[in-house]
Amino acid sequence: PAPTPGFPLPTQHSQQAHDPESDFTSKWTRADARQIMAQSNPNVPTGQSSMSPNVTMPEIPQDFPAMNDDVWVWDTWSLSDMKGNQISYKGWDVIFSLVADRHAGYSFDQRHWNARIGFFYRKTNADPTKDKWNYGGHLFAEGSSIGNTEWSGSTRLMEGDNVNVFYTATTFYDVAQRNAGGGGIAPDAAIAKALGQIHADKDKVWFDGFQHTKLLEPDGKLYQTKTQNAGFAFRDPYPFVDPAHPDKVYMVFEGNTAGTRGTYRCTQSDLGYREGDPNGETLEDVNTHTGSFYQTASVGLAEADSKDLTQWHFLPPILTSNCVNDQTERPQFYIQNENGQNKYYLFTISHQFTYADRMRGPDGVYGFVGNGIRSDFQPVNNSGLALGSPTDLNLPANNPSGTISGQQNGRQFQAYSHYVMPGGLVQSFIDNVNGTRGGSLSPTVKIDFKGGVTQVDRSFGTNGLGPYGYLPTNVRVGGEGLY
Ligand code: FRU
Repeated sequence: PAPTPGFPLPTQHSQQAHDPESDFTSKWTRADARQIMAQSNPNVPTGQSSMSPNVTMPEIPQDFPAMNDDVWVWDTWSLSDMKGNQISYKGWDVIFSLVADRHAGYSFDQRHWNARIGFFYRKTNADPTKDKWNYGGHLFAEGSSIGNTEWSGSTRLMEGDNVNVFYTATTFYDVAQRNAGGGGIAPDAAIAKALGQIHADKDKVWFDGFQHTKLLEPDGKLYQTKTQNAGFAFRDPYPFVDPAHPDKVYMVFEGNTAGTRGTYRCTQSDLGYREGDPNGETLEDVNTHTGSFYQTASVGLAEADSKDLTQWHFLPPILTSNCVNDQTERPQFYIQNENGQNKYYLFTISHQFTYADRMRGPDGVYGFVGNGIRSDFQPVNNSGLALGSPTDLNLPANNPSGTISGQQNGRQFQAYSHYVMPGGLVQSFIDNVNGTRGGSLSPTVKIDFKGGVTQVDRSFGTNGLGPYGYLPTNVRVGGEGLY
């Protein structure tokens, strides 16, 4: 591509696949992420969206419906298999969400400290524009899960009626912190799973028999620990089977580069500029004049060592965004055949406030494409940005739970936790639409992607907005298909 005046060229990435067991780690570089601003319009009226419509989520109406009046709902995933298929079980669609009590006296921004996994179900042949999701309550009995707070994960249907729920077991030690939201003693974080059974009859869906096992805790060598950084991230397991290695089960998750916070120093490969690029930065400049080395997100990889998926070991991260961004959350793979070859799209969500100095991008979902699960990933659209909330990137970054500049687009935090589903459908939760707080699922949107280029499909639904909380299934299991 021709460079935008004043901006560097993106890093060259080969998309070449490496052995998943090897130590090749792809970099989302500063040169890559700066393409977000290179592709943003510097001249929009203040507070409009400066991003290309191709990567901008259509606007959610401010009078959106609440999915449930008793619980706030955010990160959500469907019952699925290890290949990313979404499963209809005995005629029911089943989804899992982080939920928190709307009436317990804490605010929406304090939900993280009070998160539980809840589940919802709806008839597979329901009308998604009219029929509501039925709330089934908390998935796990009170006090039975590992940790005292349940964060995101994945639910996989196994043989028969067995389900494995992979989740983040977060443990807060400071009750005041739990109630007030943040600060205080660093929590523990572990990736855990619960094996249980799903049941359905003509009226409802329910679960029982959960046995919890702790699977992984950060090792401080590949993945940062709480001792190394009180604000570390270790969460959001997504197990899957790679068709290129069908006998193995892998898992991607959110991590941070190991090492004591503040000791990391950016490298040339984190910057990723081409030699002699007049719009590059020098290492010395970035390491002495910015605090970019504080931002060290990674997408981790682990491999199962036992058939029952209770034993795992770490592999080196498949992607880092050192000196670019501090959080690459809820990673997932979406594999699609393009011209006879499997292309691996790695999607992960990130925030505007977690970017490093001099970097700017919206809350949304980011994508990276390569030829295997460990590849020299090419960021989609050269920048990595696949779909973001409407934002004027010419204004400084805000934090969704902080004070928000009045000039900014009122929908900059309209949605988060975008999750890409079969057919390119993208679900997310509503956070803040022009001051109205959400806690409910967004209208599902659709993105088309091929050859590393993504585009919002504005012919889907109404001006690109499909039904609220539309998480359809594409594979039927049990009960001869329908109850
Ligand atoms: C994304 C996220 C996840 C985490 C959860 C906690 O919205 O930050 O990474 O599991 O929310 O509420």
